[in-house]
Amino acid sequence: MQERKWGKNVRIDQRRRVAAREALEHEFDELVLIDDAWETLVTGEGARAEPLHRWLPYRQQFSPELVRKFFADAGLVPGIVVDPFSGSGTTVIEAARLGQAAVGTEALPVLGWLANARGLREAPEPVTPPEPENWRSWWVSQSHPAQKAMILCAAARTVTGEGKRKVAAPPWELIRDAHIMVAEDLARPLKRPNRVVTGDARRMPLADRIAGGMVTSPPYLSRYDYTRVTSFIEALHRNTPLEESRKVQVTAAVKQGIKPPKATDTHLLPEAVHEILRGLEGAGHRADAAIVRNYFSDMRKVLVESLRVLRPGAPAWFVIGGADIEHEYIPSDLICAAMGRDVGFTVDGIIEARRLRLGQRQLGFLTGISPRESIVRFRVPDED
Ligand SMILES: C[S@@+](CC[C@H](N)C(=O)[O-])C[C@H]1O[C@@H](n2cnc3c(N)ncnc32)[C@H](O)[C@@H]1O
Repeated sequence: MQERKWGKNVRIDQRRRVAAREALEHEFDELVLIDDAWETLVTGEGARAEPLHRWLPYRQQFSPELVRKFFADAGLVPGIVVDPFSGSGTTVIEAARLGQAAVGTEALPVLGWLANARGLREAPEPVTPPEPENWRSWWVSQSHPAQKAMILCAAARTVTGEGKRKVAAPPWELIRDAHIMVAEDLARPLKRPNRVVTGDARRMPLADRIAGGMVTSPPYLSRYDYTRVTSFIEALHRNTPLEESRKVQVTAAVKQGIKPPKATDTHLLPEAVHEILRGLEGAGHRADAAIVRNYFSDMRKVLVESLRVLRPGAPAWFVIGGADIEHEYIPSDLICAAMGRDVGFTVDGIIEARRLRLGQRQLGFLTGISPRESIVRFRVPDED
C-alpha cells in the first residue's frame, strides 16, 4: 500500500490548466485503494499457464484469477454474467468452467469463434503436417472445428505481442504443440455452454435487466493499433488473402489516427475530458484530441448500455488503463468513474492495480502522478 502525496508551491497558471483533473483526483481520493496485489490479475500472464485460457497469447487478456475473484467477492445478484469486451473470452470460459452462466460480446469475430471452440467436445485428429507453404489451403480444406481451432492457435503463436510476424507460416513444431494443447484442453469438458457473440458493446444484443453482474476490460486509450495482433488469424478465419488483411490493418490504423467518426455527445462528457481536449488541440494535436473525444464518448455509451442490461444491485467491474498522450495526463479510470456516476451507477471503489509508467509529474497540488491501471467497481443502485 502507498500513500498519495500532496505537494505545495504550484504556479497559478499551471493549476488552472489541470484544475478539473485535480478536482477529480480529490473527488475520488477516498475511494482509491492502491493495492499491487491486484497487479498480476490485470495482466494476461496468469492465463498463459492455465488450460483453456492458454490458446491465444493475447496482449490485452486479463487473468482468469480476476474472474474467480469477481465470482467470489463481487456480490452478484441472480442473472447471467456479461463481458461486453470479451477479447480472448477469459470471462465466459472461466465462468463455463465454474458452471456459471455468462455471455460475451466481441467486435472481432475470430476471437468469439475461438472462445466458443473451447466448448467443443471432439478433439482434433492426429495431424499430418502439410508443407509450410500450403498451410493456408490446409486451413481452408478443414471442416472439423477442433482442427481449425488448432490451426488458429498455431498461427497465433507466429505473431509477437507487438503484432510482428515471427515466421511466414507456423512451423511443424508449433502445429504439433497446438494439437497437444487443444486435445488436452478439450478433454476437460466445461460445465456450461457459455457463448461469445459478435457484437458491439455500445449496443449489446441482450435484453434489459438480464445480467446479475459484469466484469470487463474495454480497450485502453492508446494510439497503439491492437488489431495488428489479431489481423493475421482474422484473415485466416475469414479466408481473406493475407495481402487483403494487410490492407485492412492499414485502414484501421489510419481510421484510428487521422479520420475518426465525429462524436456528437461531447457536451455530456466530464469537464476533465474538455480540459484534456483543450490541452491537445491548443498544442496542435487535433488527431489525438479526436481519439480522446471518441474514446470517452464511446465509453459513456457503454456505461449507459451496461446499466440497461444489469439488474438492480448488480456489480460491474471495469478494468481501465489511463494514458499520457502528448504530455496530457489522462486519468481514464476516474473519468469513467465520474461518467458512471453521471449515468446512474454508484462507485463502490477503485483499486489501483499498477502504474503504467513511473513518473514524478505534478498535477496541481498532487505529486507523483502517472497513468494508472485500475479496477473501477460500479454497482447498480437497488430499487427503492
Ligand atoms: C482489453 S480487450 C479484452 C480482453 C479480455 N478481457 C481478455 O481477457 O481477453 C478489449 C476487447 O474489446 C474488443 N472491442 C473493441 N471495441 C469493441 C466494441 N465496440 N464492442 C465489442 N468489443 C469491442 C477488442 O477487439 C478487444 O478484443
